[in-house]
Formats: sequence, structure tokens, C-alpha cells
Amino acid sequence: MKRTSSSECPYQAALSSSAPASHLPSGTWPPGPAPGLTGWGLLRRMSRNLLGTLAEWRQSYGDIVHLRMWPERQIIVSEPQLVRELLVNNHDALIRWERGIRVFSQLHGHSVLTTEGKTWQAKRHALQPSFSPKSIQSFVPAIAGATAKAFSQWHSADKDWPAESALTSLAMDVIVRMMFSCEIDEDARIAEQAVHDTARAANAEMYWPASWPDWMPWKRKKRQAVNVLSRLIDRYIQARLQLPPAAWPADLLSRLLELHREDSAAWPLKAVRDECMTAFLAGHETAAATLTWWTWCMAANAQAQAAARREVQEVLQGRVPTANDVPMLSHLTRTLQETLRLYPAAPVLLSRRSVRPIDLRQWQLPARTMFMVPVQLMHHDPRWFPDPHAFRPERFSHDAPEIPRGAFMPFGTGPRVCLGQHLAMTEMIVIAAMFLQRFEVTIPVGMPAPVPVFNISLRPSKPLCLTLSECFP
Ligand code: HEM
Repeated sequence: MKRTSSSECPYQAALSSSAPASHLPSGTWPPGPAPGLTGWGLLRRMSRNLLGTLAEWRQSYGDIVHLRMWPERQIIVSEPQLVRELLVNNHDALIRWERGIRVFSQLHGHSVLTTEGKTWQAKRHALQPSFSPKSIQSFVPAIAGATAKAFSQWHSADKDWPAESALTSLAMDVIVRMMFSCEIDEDARIAEQAVHDTARAANAEMYWPASWPDWMPWKRKKRQAVNVLSRLIDRYIQARLQLPPAAWPADLLSRLLELHREDSAAWPLKAVRDECMTAFLAGHETAAATLTWWTWCMAANAQAQAAARREVQEVLQGRVPTANDVPMLSHLTRTLQETLRLYPAAPVLLSRRSVRPIDLRQWQLPARTMFMVPVQLMHHDPRWFPDPHAFRPERFSHDAPEIPRGAFMPFGTGPRVCLGQHLAMTEMIVIAAMFLQRFEVTIPVGMPAPVPVFNISLRPSKPLCLTLSECFP
């Protein structure tokens, strides 16, 4: 592994790879690429190809890379133990990167995703029970219902099945049923486009030092998309408020409105709206991306698809899955875990900023340092995952060599770990099981492998289409 030269890191000259674990003089930074005058060139490289650039830097400089981008100093950490040291042991020294949060807040408002400190803690505490493994069992019929409805609309023999758009509509219907006890119908396409447009706008703005106001003429598309999504959420909330509380169904919105009724100062309707928006966006985008990649992995690995289908047939015997079946589908679960390893929907965690000094290995990193955790880089590291680009669900078997703690973290780690991780896994297992009961998926002749790009979530660079056929057990 290439170590830094003194020209690349002026403070680093005296450090060898066998440096003792004692602190270096303050002002000493880990190795990293030469920043030039301002370091903004590094930012430009990242905005063009974030994942490729981070991989190159890890190759050249190791597990802790320093980027000097005036006026910031950023540290990229990609070693499992160090990442846990940062996000678990030092969680109280970190806040989310203010610029990223400002961009997200334009749509999410002040939700559990975008707040910090005591405000975040209160929201997380209030929401957690609705997302516990036990609570989400009651959502399984809604997930199965949405899936059956989607399947009835798909052509059972389709050479050019629009996997990504079909699964995004399905994931959106699932989250709307779980949150609002309603089905998404004619709104789905418009909402899908609006989600796409806001994600693109957010992705671009993330790399600017500040945002132009949204009323600028060239931001019309974003403005319209934000309005579409806000109106969608507001409509569901208003419809619920027309009902007497005794008639409210047992779903996420009712739980939030109960909080509002109990303490309207802590939970004004705006706070209810913000949580709904976050759950709607975070709850379908990532699941849709993962299911899309899973269909690709199944199409590209016919044996793994057949093995998963055999398990589904043995366990379900043609039945619709119930909550009790989910833990029995262990091989199927491993195909989803392996998909999340290869294509983590959140390939880079939201950046953090330290509010006090943090020690990582021999480095003492001062307050205000920024930290980035590239999950995908860790998932593709041959030290933890031999032959890292191969699709091998058996890596996650009980009898496989142990995966080091922190090396696989598609849902993040520490107190800000994904709130919806159990929901996401249950949803994806139920949809995947029903998919394999009914369909076989293959790669259209001559189609190249899709190229993953970072657009808030990890998506194929072009909409993924596959060949779908009915499967007769
Ligand atoms: C495959 C599906 C999913 C993946 C890969 C995923 C991934 C993640 C990751 C990596 C984080 C942590 C980000 C960070 O530390 O910076 C996160 C946070 C979060 N996720 Fe998910 N997520 C998924 C599904 C869901 C679902 C279904 C929901 C809810 C309905 C959800 C709601 C949230 C929320 C609210 C947070 C913020 C938690 C907090 O800051 O306390 N996610 N997700």
C-alpha cells in the first residue's frame, strides 16, 4: 500500500507504518491526496465519481485518509474497527454534517433524520416502538397485499420488464399502506418522478458550499417536485384528521397523531408531517433500490435464484408468507444480505462533524473535523470478503468464516443506526419470497451489467430492465 510522501502530507514525514500508538504532535494529519491551493479540486473529483475516487484514495493512502478542502478538513475512515470506534464509542462527539442536513431539511423538515441532541433523542424514543421487530410483524399482510396487487399488474412474460420502476412503485405502495393504511394509485408515477427530481437536486446541492434559493428560475423542477411530495403527505394527514380518533386505523400516522394529541407542543402537526415525509422517503427509496439490485443478482446468478426458490417452495408450500415464515427463509435472507453487501443502498453514511477532539489510532483529530464512512468500500474489501465482487450468499451462513464486526453495515451502526432496518428486511423478504413463487428473472440477451451510481441511494446508471417469465413449480 502506498504511503504518503512528505510532499503529499507536510506533517507526515516522520511517520512510518510502524508508528507507535502514541499521539502525534497536534497539527499532524493522516495521509491523503495533495489538495492544491484550496482542495476544491478534490471535491470536484468526488462529485464526478464519488465511489471510484474514494476507492483510489483508500488504495493509495490506507484506511484513514485526510482531505484538505478549504475551509474543511475531512477524514475518510474505512476500517471496520475504526468505524465502530468512531460511530459507537465516540457517537456523543459527533453531529451530522450541517450542509448535508440543510439540504435534506428542505424536504424532511425537522425529523428524526435531520435533528440532533435532545430533540433527536425524544423523536427516536417516540418512534422506536413502531419500528421494533414485534411491531412490524403486523405489517406483513399489508406488504403481501401490496405485492399481490403489483404482480397482478405486471405482464407475466415480459422481455423488457422495467424492474426498477415496478419495484419502486411497489415499495412506495408498501410504505403508504404501512403509514397511512391507504393504497397509492394514480399518484405513484408522479410521486416517483418527484422523488427522483428531489434526489438529483439534493445530490448536486450537497457539493455546493451554499444553496441558491428555491425560487430561482432554474430550480423550477425541484420546486415542483417538493410541492408534489408535500401535497401528497398533507393529503393523507388531512384525510385522517377528518375521522374521529376512535376510527383511526392502527398505523404509523395514527401513532404520530396520538403523540400530537398527548403533547401538541412537542408534537405539532408540522412535526407529524416531517416524520411522515422522512418515513415515506427513507422507507421506500432504499428498499426499492435494494430490491432492484436483488433482481439483478438473481438474474445474473441462476443457481442462487433456483436455490432461493427451492427454499421458498419448501417453507411456504405455495402459501402467502406470514410473519412466522420470515425467520424460516434463511437462504433467501442471505441473498438479500449479499445484495446489500454488493450494492448497499446507502453506500456512504451521512457525513459527521466532531464537536470535540477524537482519537483514532495514533491520530488526535481536533473538534470540527469532518468524517466520512464509505460503507461500500468496506463491503468490497477483500480482507473481510474474499473474492469481493462475487455474489456468494453463503458468506452469511452460520458455518461460514466470521465476518469482522462492523465490516458489514448496510444500515449503519451506533445510536443513529437505521430506524427502519427490521421493517426493511421483513418487507424485502416477503416481496422476494412472493416474487420467486411466481416469477423467474433472467438477463436480456446482450445486456451489459448495470453500472451503480450514487444518487443519494445507489442506483443503476440507467433504469434497469430484465426479462420476466412465469415460473411453474
Ligand atoms: C434497504 C433498506 C434501507 C437501508 C439500506 C437503510 C439504510 C440506512 C442507513 C445506512 C442509515 C444511517 C445513516 C447514517 O448513519 O448516516 C439509515 C437511517 C435511517 N433510516 Fe434507513 N435504510 C433502509 C430502510 C429504511 C426504512 C424502511 C425506513 C423507515 C420507514 C428507514 C428510516 C430511516 C431513518 C428514520 C433513519 C435516520 C435514523 C436516525 O438518524 O436516528 N430506513 N438508514
